[in-house]
Amino acid sequence: MELTRACVSDLIKGMLGPKKKVYIKTFGCQMNVADSEQMALLLANDYVPTDRVEEADLYLINTCAIRRKAEEKVRSLLGSLQVLKQRHPQMLLGVGGCVAQQEGERLLAAAPHLDLVFGTHGIYRLPEMVRQAARGRRVVDIELTRGFPAQPRRHWRPGAVKTLVTIMQGCDNFCTFCVVPYVRGREYSRLSGEIVAEVADFLAAGGKEVTLLGQNVNSYGRGLPEGVTFPELLRRIDALDGLARLRFATSHPRDLSPELTAAFGKLPSLCEHLHLPVQSGSDRILNAMNRGYTRKEYLQKVAELRRVCPGICLSTDIIVGFPGETEADFEQTLELVEEAGFDQAFSFKYSPRPQTRAAALPDRVPGEVQAERLTRLQNLLNELTLKAHQRLIGKIAEVLVDGISKRSREELCGRLRTNQVVNFSGPRDLLGRLVMVKLTEAHPHSLKGTRVEDPTLSSPLADDPQSPQRRVSC
Ligand code: SAH
Ligand code: SF4
Ligand code: F3S
Repeated sequence: MELTRACVSDLIKGMLGPKKKVYIKTFGCQMNVADSEQMALLLANDYVPTDRVEEADLYLINTCAIRRKAEEKVRSLLGSLQVLKQRHPQMLLGVGGCVAQQEGERLLAAAPHLDLVFGTHGIYRLPEMVRQAARGRRVVDIELTRGFPAQPRRHWRPGAVKTLVTIMQGCDNFCTFCVVPYVRGREYSRLSGEIVAEVADFLAAGGKEVTLLGQNVNSYGRGLPEGVTFPELLRRIDALDGLARLRFATSHPRDLSPELTAAFGKLPSLCEHLHLPVQSGSDRILNAMNRGYTRKEYLQKVAELRRVCPGICLSTDIIVGFPGETEADFEQTLELVEEAGFDQAFSFKYSPRPQTRAAALPDRVPGEVQAERLTRLQNLLNELTLKAHQRLIGKIAEVLVDGISKRSREELCGRLRTNQVVNFSGPRDLLGRLVMVKLTEAHPHSLKGTRVEDPTLSSPLADDPQSPQRRVSC
């Protein structure tokens, strides 16, 4: 093998000196969080991650393009990094992810202090790109490749309790408002054996909770020769020893099959929470969004979920002010929100995105009308969330302790199986453990509780054999 001078110098550096440091700033969804972890893993031969910007030899921004605001955040951060780059000219600066995929060369042209641009599929070629950038070449790689890429073997830090496992990439749905199919490419599923092996590795390392990720997990397996459906994948993962909690995101309501709905009543590790983005309560708007379901069909699916799993908590995403949305359409959204009884929701003003069909639609809703509708919707959603939290008061439920509370350094925090955040006092050695907590206070975004040593203490929830919180012992 021919060794170039750069190669030899890399080898010598690797043998002699400490590794260089990479700082990764992540915007966007859980898929980006998972991708950033992959970047760190792929770069591990040359770089160790740091959370201190000042010591970074390589600064990577993993970006999101879902709404204009998300893109603006990236541009403003990029602008402000000019000063850092002047102070540390040897530091390499790279932009990756969805904005990079969308903008490519244009980013390099707009930011002379930028060294590399890599798209959503470019992360697997990142080490070589970084090497080229280190030799002074400004590089761009926004090629979208076919198939699910080979993944590096993961390892988890000791004490890791939760992990994200990517099971699909891309999206073929082309909802008319959404940029994802353009920036993430076509939908490809990962082989089931690889997914199950990765989860098994995590459990062997002491992990407890796994979230499977894809833009539309319900269509998992399409295009693969092995014929494993998403419910079948869930069954195989649920059967692994040591898994306490299984979650997934995101589920497209059109493809939510009776078989998947039934899994909520059956699989012990599957948490009683489903994120099911509805987007709008008006059939006219759902049709213009190309969502492929009606309001009635959505509500029927919700009713069926509640029938098979009475304790299930539902969360959703809603867009207000889609082109052509009238006051009457918006009121139908408000009605649907009440009827579905969401426990949690994320709501957004429609934002036109490049290449998408909706960006060319007439009848844009003025910004002030969008803002007014968003406020009305969020007031209703906040009320529903608080009521849902209040209904839990007095109950005893299982919490997976995963951190220190944001409200007070003295408190621990974790989540219920149904996904609500709970803060409570307790020693730090409970981190990573499943504990029973009596819920005592309801807040808009979280609950407060006190730890209960004996889970058989009287509680309507703990006594109810149907209760989801009973299914996993701790
Ligand atoms: N794959 C997921 C959605 C991923 S994007 C799904 O199908 O549900 C997350 C959320 O961002 C979407 O559910 C939608 O509510 C919101 N969103 C996407 N594009 C948007 C846009 N152009 N303007 C405003 N909100 C948008
Ligand atoms: Fe976007 Fe629709 Fe795909 Fe979700 S399903 S990522 S909203 S195109
Ligand atoms: Fe954003 Fe890309 Fe995720 S656009 S929401 S980071 S898929």
